[in-house]
Amino acid sequence: MSETQATEARTFEPPQELAAQANVGPDVYAEAEGDRPAFWAKAAGRLTWETPWDEVLDWSNPPFAKWFVGGKLNVAYNCLDRHVEAGHGDQVAYHWEGEPGDTRTFTYAQLTEEVCRAANALTELGVQAGDRVAIYLPMIPEAVISMLACARIGAVHMVVFGGFSADALASRITDAGATLVITSDGGYRRGSASALKPAVDDAVERTEGVRNVLVVKRTGQDVAWSEGRDLWWDDVVAKQSSEHTAEAFDAEHPLYIMYTSGTTAKPKGILHTSGGYLTQVAYTHWAVFDLKPDTDVFWTAADVGWVTGHSYIVYGPLANRATSIMYEGTPETPHRGRWFELIEKYRVTILYTAPTVIRTFMKWGADVPEGFDLTSLRLLGSVGEPINPEAWLWYHKNIGGGRCPIMDTWWQTETGAHMLTPLPGVTSLVPGSAQHPFPGIAAKVVDDEGNELSDDSTGLLVLTEPWPSMLRTIWGDDDRYVDTYWSRFGKTVYFAGDGAKKDADGNIWLLGRVDDVMNVSGHRISTTEVESSLVGHPAVAEAAVVGASDPTTGQGIVAFVILRESGTDSGDELVQTLRSHVAKDIGPIAKPRQIMVVQELPKTRSGKIMRRLLRDIAENRELGDVTTLTDSSVMNMIKDKLPAAPSED
Ligand code: PRX
Repeated sequence: MSETQATEARTFEPPQELAAQANVGPDVYAEAEGDRPAFWAKAAGRLTWETPWDEVLDWSNPPFAKWFVGGKLNVAYNCLDRHVEAGHGDQVAYHWEGEPGDTRTFTYAQLTEEVCRAANALTELGVQAGDRVAIYLPMIPEAVISMLACARIGAVHMVVFGGFSADALASRITDAGATLVITSDGGYRRGSASALKPAVDDAVERTEGVRNVLVVKRTGQDVAWSEGRDLWWDDVVAKQSSEHTAEAFDAEHPLYIMYTSGTTAKPKGILHTSGGYLTQVAYTHWAVFDLKPDTDVFWTAADVGWVTGHSYIVYGPLANRATSIMYEGTPETPHRGRWFELIEKYRVTILYTAPTVIRTFMKWGADVPEGFDLTSLRLLGSVGEPINPEAWLWYHKNIGGGRCPIMDTWWQTETGAHMLTPLPGVTSLVPGSAQHPFPGIAAKVVDDEGNELSDDSTGLLVLTEPWPSMLRTIWGDDDRYVDTYWSRFGKTVYFAGDGAKKDADGNIWLLGRVDDVMNVSGHRISTTEVESSLVGHPAVAEAAVVGASDPTTGQGIVAFVILRESGTDSGDELVQTLRSHVAKDIGPIAKPRQIMVVQELPKTRSGKIMRRLLRDIAENRELGDVTTLTDSSVMNMIKDKLPAAPSED
């Protein structure tokens, strides 16, 4: 992957017209470099604070940062009321489109009223500042309304992607200690109604502390009902007053928890707080996408269940008074031109999506986008995994008409907002590279000892200064926070977990994860999590999982399993059962692409599974060094046993 990336030599200059009117120009780098805290203080000044801060950054107890110390603000007020008060109440905040083609439009005034009603409803249900609220919803407006209602009353939202299983939901509800779950009967996906409520019923039964389940009616399908616990959204929210006075909270008041996969089977609850987070998501959204609130139509084509949705569907765009698109369904429903139809219909000017989608579009062919008018687009974005130059060039030509700069943004659930990215009016674009640290961000590529590497050497990406939207801790586990991110190179250097290299022109190239985390279609999945699901099945004795490169999804999940009884059927039926088992356990995104039943796994003398060798096999490569194996004949045995073709779907 790295080799093809690093050989792309063409560069693309910023379009002149865009550069002439860009929200930020080239001076921003020197300004930020000169006085980092002053730079971020100016960015925070774009928000409305009830109480000004005394100190921009308190880094006296690293790695526990405090930003805008003593400042107070309300996040929802910053996203809603202040725009209405400034006379923009009639501006559209969201054009929402359901998969079946139904639509809803919310102006800033209407969205503010809905959020106030929901905030009053939550208060009536006994939710208080600091309480955790789980949100398990499809991509419908109530997802955004629920998040903002929490923010408004200081409750901490914990959104769980609707594609996750009841198990995954239960463990997150327990870890976060949520007392309320907001869900719906179901949502539309790939042309049919898929249920959500049964997973909530299942999850809540296995947890303690959930008092109520608030249910939005989306599909009208039948739902089981627990009297006293379950409440319809329409019954509770619609009757509330549309007025609610937002209370200001401390800049470090928790805003949300978002679970992400780590190197162990237990997902980490990444905690984000209020002032610093909103400062950086709002400022990056404005600078990187050159957002012009009066004329742009902005579309982050992602799910609110991921950090990309939190930062660039909800908080960044609303803080900047953007008009956004929200779409419920998948790109191929009811036809492969669905996204392009939406771009044409709403005259979308900025599109932000993931490389895996672009590679899927490539597979479908350029004649699909050609059938639509995409001339409204002026800027494109990419996020979630490295974008290979071929996909970059295809995106540029076939969706961007050759005129739209592409912002390849590197960041993580943990970083909260963009960290490495070009700037649209400033940077000569190099396809395949996320290029430079955003102004006010300090990044380096270092070797295993933490020494900065010379050009073109491959090493590890680290962040050497704190940033406003950084995670503050792992929910309930400060030690794990320190261990995971701040122990490898000391307490002031953040270890991102990504391999990287810097070229002679100062461009940073991301080379994928260096830990046991896979990146499948831009989603992080831990190898250990899939392994423990597999060994949880009665037929499996041992499992090893690797991420093998995949032309569409970036990486595909490949599992090697040893069965408990040698006589057990190792045929296709069992493989399908195991694949479904993982999908049910974790969620469909974790379903292995391929499962190989083997007699042995390659292990070092200390008993560690050598995933590197399994990856070689999964990717059909010559085997690397096998000398550290206890028994090098194991690899031949595995190779001999391989099934001919991977299973599809
Ligand atoms: O490996 C990097 C990859 O995605 C990881 C973060 O995943 P997650 O927390 O789920 O957040 C995804 C959306 C921000 C990173 O550690 N990654 C993300 N963006 C890029 C990327 N790799 C290369 N280039 C990117 N632009």
